[in-house]
Amino acid sequence: MRENQKLAWLVIAAWLCIISSLINGAVEAAPQSARVQRLPGFNGSFPSEHYAGYIDVGKKHLFYYFIQSERDPVKDPVVLWLNGGPGCSSFDGFVYEHGPFDFGSGKKLPKLYLNQYSWSKVSNIIYLDSPAGVGFSYSDNTNDYETSDLKTASDTHNFLIKWFQQYPDFRPNPFFVAGESYAGIYVPTLVSAIAAGNEAGGKPVIKIKGYMIGNGVTDRLFDGNALVPFVHGMALIPDDLFKETESACNGSYYNPQTDACSKLIQKINGLVSGLNIYDILEPCYYGGPGSNSKKENNSALPPSFTQLGLDSGKIMGVRKRMFGRAWPFRAPVLDGIVPSWPQLLSGISSGVPCINDEVATVWLNNEDVRKAIHAKPISAIGEWDLCSGKLIYTHDASSMLPYHRNLTAKGYRALIFSGDHDMCVPYTGSEAWTNSLGYKTIDEWRPWLVDDQIAGYVRGYDKNLTFLTIKVSILLTSLFVLICFCPCLLVSR
Ligand SMILES: *[C@@H]1O[C@H](CO)[C@@H](O)[C@H](O)[C@H]1NC(C)=O
Ligand SMILES: *[C@@H]1O[C@H](CO)[C@@H](O)[C@H](O)[C@H]1NC(C)=O
Ligand SMILES: *[C@@H]1O[C@H](CO)[C@@H](O)[C@H](O)[C@H]1NC(C)=O
Ligand SMILES: *[C@@H]1O[C@H](CO)[C@@H](O)[C@H](O)[C@H]1NC(C)=O
Repeated sequence: MRENQKLAWLVIAAWLCIISSLINGAVEAAPQSARVQRLPGFNGSFPSEHYAGYIDVGKKHLFYYFIQSERDPVKDPVVLWLNGGPGCSSFDGFVYEHGPFDFGSGKKLPKLYLNQYSWSKVSNIIYLDSPAGVGFSYSDNTNDYETSDLKTASDTHNFLIKWFQQYPDFRPNPFFVAGESYAGIYVPTLVSAIAAGNEAGGKPVIKIKGYMIGNGVTDRLFDGNALVPFVHGMALIPDDLFKETESACNGSYYNPQTDACSKLIQKINGLVSGLNIYDILEPCYYGGPGSNSKKENNSALPPSFTQLGLDSGKIMGVRKRMFGRAWPFRAPVLDGIVPSWPQLLSGISSGVPCINDEVATVWLNNEDVRKAIHAKPISAIGEWDLCSGKLIYTHDASSMLPYHRNLTAKGYRALIFSGDHDMCVPYTGSEAWTNSLGYKTIDEWRPWLVDDQIAGYVRGYDKNLTFLTIKVSILLTSLFVLICFCPCLLVSR
């Protein structure tokens, strides 16, 4: 697994290295009251400076954790990281994906070790809990918990303006926004708001250069139609069934219009439902075909959803588990209210068996940890949850394709990546929508290598748009995308 992590790390490292620019001067004006001096569970000195705290946007108090680059904070880019949900905390990325620490087990508190594949090795990175109501972020006015794509983008934009006011030395650095899963919506809407703010003469200017999205929710049709071609290409269904389905559904699988199409889609779902949807090559520990499992039969959930999280708790082990952030149902995101994770799961008595967010939950609900990172105590804002049930969240930005088209046309660099064995957000969807923009291919589909081995495939388009696959399950690389918002299978709900 370390090999996979290394691959994933190399992608961002290479990508960020390309865009580092030459800037002189020392980084010093950061607010000292936000400096994190120690972390319970970590016995050592930080390789770079850490800061954390709240920035207020109206009555909303948005919590961030900022890590300076361990390489060259003056020149390296600033990256804003966003986890998805909607409603999931970006401490997900911090604890389980690409943060500065590996979390081992401990009697009461986990022990922290330095993560050699931390993104802070090559970038200044901000983990933001967004919108208010998520993670440590909160509002004095609980009406603010009713929010949407466009409100969230506007709030995060205002957060950034204030952040760069407090950290003026980072204004010259190239700035990027990155995220995964539902952040497939957060990222383009935010970059668009930043671009509009800059164009309108907003100060400080945010030096946005581009964005990066892993397994992102993008478009109802592309996301919804991706599964059938994927399972065909992966030898999970026979060619004649594929052809029959293609013809009965007229190439549109996500919302079957005819009985014939519906039946065939059900048949396909039946054939693949015993697989681990996050990596079709991995075993399904329970809930799979032939399983003798005594686990509760949560038929609303993909069976493979119940088998993750069975890991041995070694230092890196925590990163391999599937946590509570995947979209558990097999349908694309529609316009309108997006149910929160806790809402989705409320009908399921025992919760989702594979959820194991124990390390983060224990660590972030420890009062000493909260004090050290300047988060409000439990008595003030309640417990930290990986995914919040407080939000009433509306998907009001619709398809992301017009956003990608506009942003790439304006010269923002975009990296769209997928793990090629992930059936949850199959690469076929991301490949198809990136291709549908109609940009000229300037770098033909080709392998990219690590240590002389093929690590995945990449295709470069005009306007700095890149589509890239990683030749493993994105979820097992887990540096990138433990969250998998799952518009994958086609069950109508
Ligand atoms: C912290 O590390 C130092 C040096 O390795 C060691 O002497 C000390 O006992 C450690 N403290 C704890 C609390 O683990
Ligand atoms: C099939 O799809 C094509 C292209 O979207 C459309 O023109 C055609 O009318 C559809 N055929 C049927 C039978 O729905
Ligand atoms: C789980 O429930 C579904 C739907 O009721 C059923 O089709 C399936 O056979 C059940 N699986 C097991 C292992 O009981
Ligand atoms: C894209 O740009 C066009 C032309 O400027 C504009 O009308 C449209 O609203 C933009 N769409 C998005 C989603 O930014």
